[in-house]
Amino acid sequence: MCGIVGYVGKQDAIPLLIDGLKRLEYRGYDSAGVAVLDSAGLSLRKAVGRLSALEDILHLTPLGGRPGIGHTRWATHGPPTEANAHPHTDDSGRLAVVHNGIIENYKELREELEKKGHRFSSQTDTEVIPHLIAQELKDGAPDTLTALRNALSRARGAYAVGVLSADEPNTVFAARHGSPLIVGIGSGEYYIASDVPAILSRIREVIYLNDGEIAALRTDGVNVYTLAGQRVQPEIHAVTLQAEAAERAGFETYMLKEIHEQPRVLRNLIEKHSDLSDEFELSANYFRKLNRIMIVACGTAYHAGMYGRLLLEHFTGLAVETDLASEFRYRDPKIDPGTLLIPVSQSGETADTLAGIRMARNWGCKVLSICNVPGSSVVRESDAVLFTEAGPEIGVASTKAYTAQQMAFALLALHIARARGTLNESEIAQCLTDLRKVPDAIHLVISRKETIRAIAGKHHDGPSSLYLGRKFNYPTALEGALKNKEISYQHAEGYAAGEMKHGPIALINEYLPVVCICTQTRDEVYDKMISNMKEVEARHGRIIAVATEGDTLVKEIAGDIIYVPAIRDEFSPIVNVVALQLLAYYAAQARGTDIDKPRNLAKSVTVE
Ligand code: F6R
Repeated sequence: MCGIVGYVGKQDAIPLLIDGLKRLEYRGYDSAGVAVLDSAGLSLRKAVGRLSALEDILHLTPLGGRPGIGHTRWATHGPPTEANAHPHTDDSGRLAVVHNGIIENYKELREELEKKGHRFSSQTDTEVIPHLIAQELKDGAPDTLTALRNALSRARGAYAVGVLSADEPNTVFAARHGSPLIVGIGSGEYYIASDVPAILSRIREVIYLNDGEIAALRTDGVNVYTLAGQRVQPEIHAVTLQAEAAERAGFETYMLKEIHEQPRVLRNLIEKHSDLSDEFELSANYFRKLNRIMIVACGTAYHAGMYGRLLLEHFTGLAVETDLASEFRYRDPKIDPGTLLIPVSQSGETADTLAGIRMARNWGCKVLSICNVPGSSVVRESDAVLFTEAGPEIGVASTKAYTAQQMAFALLALHIARARGTLNESEIAQCLTDLRKVPDAIHLVISRKETIRAIAGKHHDGPSSLYLGRKFNYPTALEGALKNKEISYQHAEGYAAGEMKHGPIALINEYLPVVCICTQTRDEVYDKMISNMKEVEARHGRIIAVATEGDTLVKEIAGDIIYVPAIRDEFSPIVNVVALQLLAYYAAQARGTDIDKPRNLAKSVTVE
């Protein structure tokens, strides 16, 4: 949600800023801007729309200089206009600020500053920051760093900011509180960025700024301070990601690349954890005494959490609940220290999920997060972390992070089942054998993408579609529908198949595609799913079934069928969802949408 990049070093900042912004565009893409120091002092360029619009402007009116800051915006306060695009400046035009987050008390700050003669030119909350810094300097702050510290002490809400001052050549200031920001260390040059992949090829080490810290990046090094002005010794981490991890590797989109990466990601994850030893940092004794698990997450990660709940209940016998983080934070849940909170998050920066963690910690609960991004806020605020290790996910619609979250839940459920003795060793070994079949099964589904593309081609043009599943595959139905609406913009609704006759059945006619996930082979819900499909058939709905290879019964009912390999019921959702990711993908392609950057969306939702 808004991307920030900044550069201090000997090179011209503009190409480096643009390259970083391109890699951050998934965080927001309704306007963009850059500011550099040059012979004129501070110079800016801004453009409404995608980054390419800013590139066009830079082509027509070139800019060069160093250091520099850049921003790609996902609008919160004020529509996407040039005036609202970042960087924002003070009246003198000597200070420029880029910001990610929301300054909640911006109205009162703005009124106060206006009374003191400051003139505002945008509707954003961000603009108060350069004016506040300028006012602090006017009121006697000895330097920009002190003025920035004082200014930020007055801001309520969340921020990651980058600041450039014409009075401080060779310096970029950065600060974070509740929104992500990292400092990258290259050879003789320094960067700030909203995430590591944005500057991956240019840095060797990284500092994950903590909340309430300010960094001053100069050509000769980085100093980090608290908001109160105390120097802190930052922890410096080596960058272990390979630069290629953040490239498209010849695929037409990041999403398609990430769909294809799933077999490898899951294979690695299983191999890393398959001994189920005590690596989740919480002891077997802790898991034995546990009386309840609460899972909180948003969007796709919430669907993974719903699946996780089903697996945990099934394998461990524990009471498990899953809630949307945005709802959880306003409930009065009966939670005590005997409850384990499991937040699930790809980015590790989702504001609502973080709020859930903070609530649970206040109640004395332990927090075991399932997360993809090392150094993220979720990771840092958890007692223990099960990393999904999916690598950078750049397509806005989550794919490999989702199946990795599902796999993480499967491994965790088996781990807890062993600790609590709810599965014996041979049952666990059988589960692991079955889990190991998942990556190859996904590979096979992906190899059938042309069949899936042809099916998507037949059904993408209607206004709506329905996705039905039961038990372990109810979350799969929700996730399939979410993927479809997110990237193809076709309205799609996921439903528990048993609920269909309580309402949505009224929608069914010969135009409505109904995607039915019917792969269960061993349990009672297979027959129930068949009955539900019959009900759709009787009303002439267009059935697209996801079914197990060789299932002729489903074939008789469905108009179109996507076969997937036979997989143990409990783990089938990890395979089935890949068919639905591809179905959504090709529907979106047929509808001509921007698949990696769907309209109005942003990856990493750092505001409430
Ligand atoms: C959907 C999608 C979103 C995210 C949600 C949570 O494809 O990506 O629904 O799943 O915004 O984000 P994280 O997992 O980063 O907390």
